[in-house]
Amino acid sequence: MQLATEPIISIRSIGKQFGAVQALDDVSFDIAPGELHAVMGENGAGKSTLMKILSGVQGDYAGELWVKGQLVRFSGTRDAEAMGISIIHQELNMVEQLTVAANIFLGREIAGWAGLKQSEMNLQARQLLSELESNISPRALVGSLRVGDQQLVEIAKALSRRAEILIMDEPTSALTETEVARLYRVIDRLRQRGVTIIYISHKMDEVFRLADRITVLRDGRFVQTLHKSDTSARQIAHLMVGRDIEPSVRHQLPAGAPVVLEVKNLSLPWPGHSRGWRLRNVSLQLHRGEVLGIAGLMGAGRTELLECLFGASSLQPQGNILIEGRQHAFTHPSQAMQSGIAMVTEDRKRLGLFLHQTVRDNITVCSLQEASQWGVVNRTQEYQAANAQIKSLHIKTAGPEAAITSLSGGNQQKCIIGRCMLTRPKILLLDDPTRGVDIGAKAELYRLMEQLAAEGVAILVTSSELPELLTVSDRIIVLSEGEVTGHFNRDEATEQKIMEAATRQLPA
Ligand SMILES: Nc1ncnc2c1ncn2[C@@H]1O[C@H](COP(=O)(O)OP(=O)(O)OP(=O)(O)O)[C@@H](O)[C@H]1O
Ligand SMILES: [Mg+2]
Repeated sequence: MQLATEPIISIRSIGKQFGAVQALDDVSFDIAPGELHAVMGENGAGKSTLMKILSGVQGDYAGELWVKGQLVRFSGTRDAEAMGISIIHQELNMVEQLTVAANIFLGREIAGWAGLKQSEMNLQARQLLSELESNISPRALVGSLRVGDQQLVEIAKALSRRAEILIMDEPTSALTETEVARLYRVIDRLRQRGVTIIYISHKMDEVFRLADRITVLRDGRFVQTLHKSDTSARQIAHLMVGRDIEPSVRHQLPAGAPVVLEVKNLSLPWPGHSRGWRLRNVSLQLHRGEVLGIAGLMGAGRTELLECLFGASSLQPQGNILIEGRQHAFTHPSQAMQSGIAMVTEDRKRLGLFLHQTVRDNITVCSLQEASQWGVVNRTQEYQAANAQIKSLHIKTAGPEAAITSLSGGNQQKCIIGRCMLTRPKILLLDDPTRGVDIGAKAELYRLMEQLAAEGVAILVTSSELPELLTVSDRIIVLSEGEVTGHFNRDEATEQKIMEAATRQLPA
């Protein structure tokens, strides 16, 4: 795409400071009308902050923003919407207690002489949603919807405002494969209508599929804008991190390593569902120092399996769980933790983080006993423990006392990993640990897993990205509809074989 046309958005020397953190520093680049412009960068590079400025969420900044040839300074999202800019946030931003239609028309309710025209709004909402291949009821409460559907409601909302410029901040990070495919089709359709899209993602293949141009930010600074056809994933990665990312060296799993965890015929019922079970007869062995990958499509039972092992499942599973030969039936994660199991959960906002607390609290919450003497928490030790994790995981934060909410999404995830590390687990359960984590941090996490495995920690890991699972695992088991449908050693596993097993259905 040539920039012969006037840019639709021109970002001029934009800067933004949060206390001592320079989130954006003298950033300038242009967005062309009708293009899909990807913005990439490590966790904390300033992507979301810039998007909040473009969409009027963040009004206090240095520099200039030009939209359609006009110098603007938005003092709220309404101002941005008036100029045709809408945003779909990284952490979805809806009123869960309101209906779908109410969310779509929030602040612009259709009213007649006798009050709100509820049926008119429902009708229009239904129409907008059907354009997005969705038959969600306009009367459903948003809080009852899956994340993928909530996101469609946000897109419908943007459409209802006739957005010419749509900003999507990591839109696929919580979607199932089918939802991702649907989102791509919706994006295609929006583009045919001439909508300009600014797209943030950590997924390289996705960016190379969708984008016309890619802008890289690093540490709040503009690095470069490249046409997709003139660059490669490797170059973009290099620009993001400022160095080449070295693949981690694989350890050799020692022969005859003892079994640390054994699962025999684990089943988890699913009352009220036609299938009847979430997990059925799952058996596996995990050895000391081994990394066992669990593959499967969304809904195959990966998270449920890890939750059963962690005592975090709402229903009591059937079957046997043996840790170092001893049978256990955890009913609460605290029991699992006492037996040396730690877990990094998938949904960090709902399960993982204490949003009103500091980085330090969030890192040390599970290991306070270690820092306490006679029940008194020793602040200094706690501070040091948190600091050590901040250093070793390269968590980007002003310090242990910063509010957890002041961290970028990926850095929040690293805090949860740090928390697990502090409990010095024997068995580590990682449920899609790199979701929303940038490539540099991913490489660090792989190295960390390597190091832990070499120290003897047994690791069970799931991932929404198959190449990642192939990289880190000694063995891979595949789940489909709650059952084990495949089992591969490292040297025989391929994406093809795993996908075949993941879509296989066993007879009921
Ligand atoms: N409200 C805030 N208060 C303090 N610091 C903030 C705030 N919002 C962002 N920051 C800081 O600004 C920097 C940029 O954060 P931003 O959320 O823009 O990163 P990002 O590129 O979107 O990262 P990610 O890929 O993890 O989502 C980070 O260092 C972050 O900690
Ligand atoms: Mg972000």
